[in-house]
Amino acid sequence: MKKGEKIMQVKKRILTGDRPTGLLHLGHYVGTLKNRLRLQDEYECFFIIADLQVLTDHINNYASIKDNVLEIMYDYLSIGLKPENTFFIQSQIPELTELTMYFSFLVTLARLKRNPTIKKEAKNYGVKNTSYGFLGYPISQAADILAFKANLVPVGQDQVPHIEQTREIVRSFNRIFNREVFTLPEPLVGKIPVLIGTDGINKMSKSLDNHIALAYSPKKTKERILDMVTDNQRLYRKDPGHPEKCLVFKYWSIFFPEEALLVHKECKNAIRGCKECKFQLAEKLNENLKEIREQRKYFASQPDLVWDILASGVKRARMIAAETLKEVREVMKISFPKIKIL
Ligand code: TRP
Repeated sequence: MKKGEKIMQVKKRILTGDRPTGLLHLGHYVGTLKNRLRLQDEYECFFIIADLQVLTDHINNYASIKDNVLEIMYDYLSIGLKPENTFFIQSQIPELTELTMYFSFLVTLARLKRNPTIKKEAKNYGVKNTSYGFLGYPISQAADILAFKANLVPVGQDQVPHIEQTREIVRSFNRIFNREVFTLPEPLVGKIPVLIGTDGINKMSKSLDNHIALAYSPKKTKERILDMVTDNQRLYRKDPGHPEKCLVFKYWSIFFPEEALLVHKECKNAIRGCKECKFQLAEKLNENLKEIREQRKYFASQPDLVWDILASGVKRARMIAAETLKEVREVMKISFPKIKIL
């Protein structure tokens, strides 16, 4: 594509992404990755690896972020997201930082503090220690989405407040500057908006160490499943079970709904024991993840190929973001064409 050439938009756009903090897990898979896979041909897709967003609450771990960028890419490609999609790194698109600044004038502090996801996350880190950048990260997320004028944002349930914030920014911006620069994006949450982790209590998350990463070995996957608590009212093998109260059964019904009917029946009639039930679940999950894990080995053996995919993604993402920013500066009257430095 030549410089200055306008980028044609044919399909509607998806923008979504993840923070590079480690391996993606089953919660990501059912919450958002499945939707991305399903829609990648229908939409023009942009996948952001949000390294700056990690810094908003992990500034002391800055050194590990870079390695995790590759890990996320291995996960993306191994589940079947096609290399032709636009994959890019947030920090490499300075226009996003610029747009974050402009949007920051449109959002009150009180509004940021009301965001339920921010509240929950702030509690984990100690409210007094939340930085200005952390409190404002939903604004930066709005910039990620709107720089590409995305129509749809497939995310997990916890991200929905940020999309709501993004929609408010669209409305304020268009109203204040009296131009329809931005369109309203919609969130899209998977069929299982929140997957309970292996602790049976909290949402599956790496920071709580109750997760099953897509890239785990079969052995580690099995260990995680064997650790799961089943029906605590079932004391003896001969006692009938209560599948509706059992985490292992929940996983059966989410991942293998067809088999779940039989599992339910056998558990209720004390035909199946908890241990064998877990073994079987682990085996089935491992069988289903086998191809992804093999693909991952393939991509992980070719980091240069993955850097090339990111390099062309960054290039394309910058061109599109630059177009949006040009328009934004013009309507905000902060564009000075007569002043040219370079
Ligand atoms: N907040 C998202 C997460 O923690 C990552 C993210 C950054 C994102 N920018 C985004 C998601 C824009 C969707 C759209 O996983």
